[in-house]
Amino acid sequence: MTDTLTTVDSLVHRVVDASLGTIDLIAMYLGDRLGWYRSLAADGPATPDELAARTGTDPRYAREWLEQQAVTGLLVASDGEPRRFTLPEAAAEVLTDEHSLNYLGPLARMLCGFAAHLPELVTAYRTGSGVSWAELGADARESQAAMNRPWFEEALPAALASVPELDDLLRAPGIEIADIGCGGAWSTIALARAYPRARLSGYDVDPATVSLALADVAGSPDVADRITIVASDASALPQQRFSAVFAFECIHDMPRPVEVLGAVRRSLTEGGVVVVMDEAVADEFTAPGDDVERLMYGFSLTCCLPDGMSHPESVGTGTVMRPSTLRRYALEAGFTEVSVLPIDEFGFWRFYLLGT
Ligand SMILES: C[S@@+](CC[C@H](N)C(=O)[O-])C[C@H]1O[C@@H](n2cnc3c(N)ncnc32)[C@H](O)[C@@H]1O
Repeated sequence: MTDTLTTVDSLVHRVVDASLGTIDLIAMYLGDRLGWYRSLAADGPATPDELAARTGTDPRYAREWLEQQAVTGLLVASDGEPRRFTLPEAAAEVLTDEHSLNYLGPLARMLCGFAAHLPELVTAYRTGSGVSWAELGADARESQAAMNRPWFEEALPAALASVPELDDLLRAPGIEIADIGCGGAWSTIALARAYPRARLSGYDVDPATVSLALADVAGSPDVADRITIVASDASALPQQRFSAVFAFECIHDMPRPVEVLGAVRRSLTEGGVVVVMDEAVADEFTAPGDDVERLMYGFSLTCCLPDGMSHPESVGTGTVMRPSTLRRYALEAGFTEVSVLPIDEFGFWRFYLLGT
């Protein structure tokens, strides 16, 4: 739990620590975007000239970045000139291994990508308007998909298998499953792999996200023939079609979640269920909060609330959607049962089951 910062000394430390952390994230963004971490991980240690030659970048900038990375403790520098810089194995996993549950490179891209929109955010905060998912652009869209991908690929199948009634339902032959707000479709692809007799439909309202999803599905030929990506608002789901609908980390972004959940309910066949994966925030507002709350309020300030507010008649949920809020939305949408699934230790998320 974070303490309230009541002394000048503690505030000075917080601001300095935050500044150092911000500098780390900005340097990580550069290392990721310029392919420097990937080159060091794949092709081994490099001098500034070697790294620049390998990645088609400028040697003077490469030197400054390599020295900064060694000074901040992410790279190891050799003695003597020219220095050669090594990316240790642990840093390679966290910053470049897109299949590892410890992969956090996209978090730097996400936060720096949000920060690039601060002028629009200032306007939105003044006027009550928003900054849409489409306006937040490729950094937001692609880092979101990359951040969640390992969790869907590596952890989701076992998590769902740990809930036998749900797992049995998903194993039924010919079952139709929808994945709303599917983003880059890594959840849709993971579900198709985990449930080989299912047909999957991924829905997303943002055209650029739909293109990303289509590319990811096309790059997954083992399941591509069982997945359809639909460019549509989830409030237009077909009626009585799906035995299960998943909503991964998207309900809190939606301007009119009750309308969407109502359409989701009507899209279910008899006995169908809905699984919502959303942020594992505390039951109630508590200040000061823990790191999860601090992180989620950060995402809310910079992305999810302004995204939600960018549409007319938005309820303005934001990232910090408390369990009582989702429950209220679900009941207003006509669901009669809302429970939390016994899936623990799954990133920053909680799984809810909605039924009628
Ligand atoms: C935070 S992203 C999550 C993407 C993905 N589910 C994941 O976990 O990586 C939210 C997604 O929901 C989509 N979305 C928001 N409102 C929607 C709606 N009403 N219908 C369909 N998609 C929607 C956005 O375009 C965005 O791709």
